Amino acid sequence: MTAPINAAAVAAASDEVIDWRFKGVPSTWWGRTPAQICEEAPDLFEDGAVGPVCILRREALRHNITTMADWCRDRGVELAPHGKTHMAPQLMERQLRAGATAITAATLSQVRTYRAFGVRDVVLANELVDTAGLRWLSTELDAHPDFSAMCWVDSVPGVELMTTALTAAGAERPVDVCVEVGMAGGRTGCRGAAAVDEVARAAAASPRLRLVGVAGYEAALGHDTAPGALAGVTAYLGEMRAAAVRLDALFETDRVIVTAGGSTYFDAVADVLTGDWRTVLRSGCYLTHDAGLYGRTSPLRGQFRPALTVWAQVVSRPEGDLAIVNMGRRDVSFDQDLPMPLKLPDTVVTKLNDQHGYLRLGGGDNVEVGGWLEFGISHPCTVFDKWQLIPELDADNRVVGLIRTFF
Ligand SMILES: Cc1ncc(COP(=O)(O)O)c(C=O)c1O
Repeated sequence: MTAPINAAAVAAASDEVIDWRFKGVPSTWWGRTPAQICEEAPDLFEDGAVGPVCILRREALRHNITTMADWCRDRGVELAPHGKTHMAPQLMERQLRAGATAITAATLSQVRTYRAFGVRDVVLANELVDTAGLRWLSTELDAHPDFSAMCWVDSVPGVELMTTALTAAGAERPVDVCVEVGMAGGRTGCRGAAAVDEVARAAAASPRLRLVGVAGYEAALGHDTAPGALAGVTAYLGEMRAAAVRLDALFETDRVIVTAGGSTYFDAVADVLTGDWRTVLRSGCYLTHDAGLYGRTSPLRGQFRPALTVWAQVVSRPEGDLAIVNMGRRDVSFDQDLPMPLKLPDTVVTKLNDQHGYLRLGGGDNVEVGGWLEFGISHPCTVFDKWQLIPELDADNRVVGLIRTFF
């Protein structure tokens, strides 16, 4: 059995010479490698970070990884963390070391990136109906007997397309698929039990596919945790459970998979979907948690710690209670909530431009031009994708890691 990730390929990120390509990091680091810099554990700001700069907190990452791994173990579920959250092989390695059984991807390009770092077990949480993509996947599967991948199917035409493409590619190994249970008004996924059964039968009948389980995504409709919304999530998960029971005779493996669960409803998934099969969660955002969406909705809010923030400088105080910082939509997420200044209780961000943020200062808060401010974020996925190299700080604010992302 090969390792779950290629440690040497991951470690190579620490030997890449740093230069102007990486925004925010001190120019005094140019020409040196992460390994050399971290050996000295410098202070990011004394070394000359330029605003804005995104940072990770090592202790919070470690705490969240351990907390989630323990929780999964207690509840008898597996975790295949969504790698699209950070696209950072160094973080995937830590998640796998803590017991994650696979890494989840949303697209085939992400799977290709994972494979460049030797990720052995991949859940492609999506339909794959791309002939070129299927050709690549089957070549990769045939070349690497230890590589395990699975994707989802939600239509008979999709099953037929996959079968035709894999036959044309001369695939030797079948591709593992889960039938995806959808919901009215949701995203992908079969609508209704009859469609689920029809697609499952088609997949089981295909000589190029192996039906291994049932998949779904309960947060396709949102992240509302009010009782009415939770009842809808529970009912949906109940439909997934019923499908897993009903389709039992069709599965082409004795290690059936039932997979659901982002970072908002994973407790409901464990409540409803554990059974005589492998229950696989795909939470991604739990890793860094946040000060917004997941701070409000995670089942382990109060236990997880926000690990990802963005620092910016005040560049202008042009009028009254207005301050402008050099952090904008290029640097921080804005799809769920605007960023939140961490140490200014009365101040709010009211607007972001591409490269500027607008702060309305509260009565008790005062900031000066040139000062640094730290911002909590809402929704880590859309922060990570704006940064290619993220300093990781210890409790004393020393740089102990440099996390490389590949979006
Ligand atoms: C299909 C699927 N599974 C799992 C996740 C992970 O959920 P979260 O981002 O809440 O951790 C996502 C996120 O978008 C998703 O689309």
